[in-house]
Amino acid sequence: MSAELEMIRVYIMGRAYEVPAGLTIMKAMEYAGYRLVRGVGCRGGFCGACATVFRRPGDYKLYADLACQTTAEDEMYIAQIPSVPAERAPWKLSELEPEENFILALYPEVARCVACNTCSRACPQELEVMDYIQAALRGDIAQVAELSFDCVQCGLCAMRCPAEIVHYHVGQLARRVYGAYRAPQAGHLAARVEEIESGTFDQELDTLQQMSRDELVEAYRKRDVEK
Ligand code: FES
Repeated sequence: MSAELEMIRVYIMGRAYEVPAGLTIMKAMEYAGYRLVRGVGCRGGFCGACATVFRRPGDYKLYADLACQTTAEDEMYIAQIPSVPAERAPWKLSELEPEENFILALYPEVARCVACNTCSRACPQELEVMDYIQAALRGDIAQVAELSFDCVQCGLCAMRCPAEIVHYHVGQLARRVYGAYRAPQAGHLAARVEEIESGTFDQELDTLQQMSRDELVEAYRKRDVEK
């Protein structure tokens, strides 16, 4: 006889559903019959597509987290956010002047940070979001890039910010600029790019493209692997 499934009740978009205990919010929604088209991506906590808000019974606080990483709880009220309505400033990496305080020029609202730390508390990655916004204010893009490195761009920080700062866009801008203009360049990478551009691998690539699937599998098995 199969063990009986423990069920919990959750409210999704205001409607009650019985779902098995232990599911993530994302799986609970799918079990309840929702077909997720927006607000879902990798299902592994990396893409940041599944921002979700919820309340727990008897608790007035509004919580936010990633639906694919958060376990549904009995009597939880759940609402999904298919996207965070935050504006990204228009910029082109090749046209930026990283010497000036380009972050404040593109995102002047950064100066409105009141250091309430709501952004850091909202971050499902547990990043020190407020600290990198303060670093942006000082023009320290190395620090912004470092502290925002694990950002998955879910937007929950921006959603909770009383100063309407779009933290995750600020972090992305700093990382791109830091990578392009400030980070020490890797010599071996530059050498390999030069090899590729000079056509060193063109013939090998042509051969691979003409191989059948079986030949490719065989070639993959026999490849040189660094011990
Ligand atoms: S679906 Fe990608 S982080 Fe949740």
